[in-house]
Amino acid sequence: MPDSVLDGPLLEDHRVLWRRMLGARGGGFGDMGFPWLAVGPTGKVIGFSAFGPVRGSSWEHDAEIYALYVDTDWRGHGIGRALVRQTAQGLMAQHRRSLLLWALEGNSKARAFYDRIGGKVIDREAHCFGGVWLPEVAYEWRDMALLLE
Ligand SMILES: CC(C)(COP(=O)(O)OP(=O)(O)OC[C@H]1O[C@@H](n2cnc3c(N)ncnc32)[C@H](O)[C@@H]1OP(=O)(O)O)[C@@H](O)C(=O)NCCC(=O)NCCS
Repeated sequence: MPDSVLDGPLLEDHRVLWRRMLGARGGGFGDMGFPWLAVGPTGKVIGFSAFGPVRGSSWEHDAEIYALYVDTDWRGHGIGRALVRQTAQGLMAQHRRSLLLWALEGNSKARAFYDRIGGKVIDREAHCFGGVWLPEVAYEWRDMALLLE
């Protein structure tokens, strides 16, 4: 994604989004819970998973992961997998089974990760990020139990 988008309108959009997610009464969007944070040995946040109801698309999964991130120094240590597993566990405890997630088509590293943890590509669509349209692919887990194995 171009830096001009990340540092420009997207930054402000995401400030608003995170304030809503962290400040919502009853926990996050649609009462599904707050984002999960991974905390390193010094107490610093080194990763997160943000999720909630599926956003404007024709898909009707029980939940969507909006954002998943692991600090560069901590990648490849199982933290991404642990965050997705924790997210799935929390959602399944609320009787939700299916999960949707959109990834940038060109984000080959993240896509290799989603392939590795059993995601299936079910859709392709361009989405607008701060005024710039970029192609994305949708991954699904029809049954989040797969993520707990
Ligand atoms: C994608 C991301 C969340 C993965 O987190 P991570 O902590 O590095 O991944 P893990 O260490 O938990 O990896 C889990 C499995 O996926 C595999 N994997 C992870 N990244 C991979 C890659 N780039 N290529 C191939 N396999 C990969 C690991 O080898 C591991 O397999 P194993 O359990 O069989 O050993 C992380 O790299 C990240 O934050 N990237 C930048 C932000 C981003 O692109 N987020 C996704 C937005 S849609």
